[in-house]
Amino acid sequence: MPTLPIGTQTPGSDRKDSARRDIATAIHPYTNLKLHEAEGPLVISEGQGVFVRDQDGKTYLEGLAGLWCVSLGFSERRLAEAAYRQMLRLPAYHTFAHKAHEVGIELAEKLLSMAPVPMSKVFFVNSGSEANDTAVKLVWYYNNALGRPRKKKIISRAKAYHGVTVASASLTGLPNNHRDFDLPIANIFHVEGPHYYRYGLAGESEEAYASRLADSLEQRILKEGPDTVAAMIAEPIIGAGGVLFPPATYWDKIQAVLRKYDVMLIADEVICGFCRTGNMWGSTTCGMQPDMITCAKALSSGYMPIAALMISEPIYDALVAQSEKIGIFSHGFTYSGHPVTSAVALETLKIYEERDILSHVRAVAPRMQAGLRRFADHPLVGEVRGTGLIGAIELVADKTTKASFDPAQGVGAFLNKRAHQHGLILRALGDSIAFCPPLIISEAEIDLMLDRFALALEDTFKMVQERGLVNNASVPALAK
Ligand SMILES: Cc1ncc(COP(=O)(O)O)c(C=O)c1O
Repeated sequence: MPTLPIGTQTPGSDRKDSARRDIATAIHPYTNLKLHEAEGPLVISEGQGVFVRDQDGKTYLEGLAGLWCVSLGFSERRLAEAAYRQMLRLPAYHTFAHKAHEVGIELAEKLLSMAPVPMSKVFFVNSGSEANDTAVKLVWYYNNALGRPRKKKIISRAKAYHGVTVASASLTGLPNNHRDFDLPIANIFHVEGPHYYRYGLAGESEEAYASRLADSLEQRILKEGPDTVAAMIAEPIIGAGGVLFPPATYWDKIQAVLRKYDVMLIADEVICGFCRTGNMWGSTTCGMQPDMITCAKALSSGYMPIAALMISEPIYDALVAQSEKIGIFSHGFTYSGHPVTSAVALETLKIYEERDILSHVRAVAPRMQAGLRRFADHPLVGEVRGTGLIGAIELVADKTTKASFDPAQGVGAFLNKRAHQHGLILRALGDSIAFCPPLIISEAEIDLMLDRFALALEDTFKMVQERGLVNNASVPALAK
């Protein structure tokens, strides 16, 4: 068990008291609010390296880096000091109406210099959702600037995750993000998301599956009318929708269709950006050449809320023309390019470079990927997928037919809870269990993460057997 610094809990705070006050006051994102009233929160009080500790002093390995973001772990002093220094120098300022500050300028230069394909300018925002919302608005603004008022539709994909603001939630391809929120808005539609294991046909190769998806995209563009379709947005690797990887040749074929109909590509690098996939960018890993890129999360190691949208030169040129015509580019958030968030992001990018975090990821990733794949033969495991330091294990009720559990049975959620008990925080995306640890994780910590997962998996296997949820016919030896 790692040593964490002595806690600095509020005197007198205890679990029951915190739970009562939390339930009385807070609405939690992505939470069953009724269940929360009964169960209350897990109060995390402090962190060190890849570990966090709860209010009772129990330590957890953070296998999802918080929400896919705490790349440098939970105790990087340089980030705290960068924030403090900037707080003392210029704690707040804005970038509206020709204002700038040195740290924002330096961050923009740095980020553009790192882009996977040439990018011209960067616009800072506070969250991935705002970055994607801004991308949507700029697609519309751009096409108005070019005198193409009909070319406005944006293609997203089933299972995509792009955030929760009105346009970003519309881009997100998960039913619960639309249901009863009266979404999606007009001009956004979804095509199939790629997942060969689930949707590849019997006897169909990955390449043939990719061709089928590209054909189907082309048919949809033709049906909508190519003069109405402006852009496609995509995560290089779908994250919150289940950690889903494009099949071989997918991006080559999809991009050929997009180019044919003059449809721009927006890469949502909010999870994949900054070394996660074993390259600096997921676009490089997947062979994407985007016209716009959004990034967030590991941009500041999650220490500060900052995100960015990078755009190519032709798009920037159109914005300039349009803002000249209108007299102003009327978009921006009070905290766009905030000096403190910018200082922390800049320090984060410097650390990636100085410590060569990318080489570290490449060195330890095989340990995680091989370790995950050791579960492939387990009777509950349908598919193991991953690259770099991101992966998922999909649980199934029947390994042979790939039948999923009924979502109401909450098998993934059960495993997640058992993992907590074994000192591991992961994320259950339905019955796909996601792994996305801090990038600084060591091989020994990877082993610990997988050992703890193995315990949770065994508990879950026992539970599904006891409740008769698994198809025992397909697990003859182990079921006995
Ligand atoms: C790929 C992707 N895009 C966008 C977002 C939205 O970011 P935020 O929660 O900062 O608004 C997320 C969040 O998880 C994400 O994973």
